[in-house]
Amino acid sequence: MIFDTHAHYDDEAFDEDREQLLASLKEQGIGRVVNIGSSMKACAGTIELMDRYPFVYGALGVHPSDSGELTESDLEWLKVQCAHPKCLAVGEIGLDYYWEEPEHEIQQKWFHRQLQIAREVKLPVVIHSREAAKDTIDIMKEERAEEIGGVIHCYSYSKETAKIFLDMGFYIGVGGVLTFKNGRRLKETVEYVPMDRIVLETDSPYLAPVPFRGKRNSSLNLPYVVQELAQIKGLDVQEVERITWENACRLYRMQER
Ligand code: NI
Repeated sequence: MIFDTHAHYDDEAFDEDREQLLASLKEQGIGRVVNIGSSMKACAGTIELMDRYPFVYGALGVHPSDSGELTESDLEWLKVQCAHPKCLAVGEIGLDYYWEEPEHEIQQKWFHRQLQIAREVKLPVVIHSREAAKDTIDIMKEERAEEIGGVIHCYSYSKETAKIFLDMGFYIGVGGVLTFKNGRRLKETVEYVPMDRIVLETDSPYLAPVPFRGKRNSSLNLPYVVQELAQIKGLDVQEVERITWENACRLYRMQER
């Protein structure tokens, strides 16, 4: 069975066939999915999905690109919702300097605040970090993120940077990019990262692996990532599925079955 640690099934890209698609996952070997909140609306959608599907869990948080309008009362609501028995993490939170907006100071403020909430509710964090490695690490150190724990999702930095996150006890999230022709740096990083720190993710509907690059992604495409990972690590596919399943359960602090 495969564990998809990061998907966005509340996204409108799934409005046409969400029900059918989610209902088909189990028989296609996808055993668990964590739906990740990215905006206040997406968090509400995540709660609906957790309530509806036994194998769907959730993370609640606001993505840096959606943090421009955030308020303290939004965070208060989020904190209360984190008590949901299937809410496993705070996320996705972090910094995204690829986009101009919102300005860096605003992103940083809400990254700090959401790390503090994770500490209060005692949940790990799902971190989104793009073109912002140094500030991400600085803020994580200031907030003593090594005591909070979590995953760096859709990992995109060097292996030297990966070491810093690994030393803080974090997991590395790997998805479709691993199969891209221009994914050489990620392949090198994945070679370096110990197998017990890698988790599988799709970021559905984004980042579909080859041969579906550019199309809508879903958890059903994870076998392509598993295959690539198996090749890089010199393991068989079943081993990769088993180990990444165990890793995901440790990351999200849940039972293996
Ligand atoms: Ni995401």
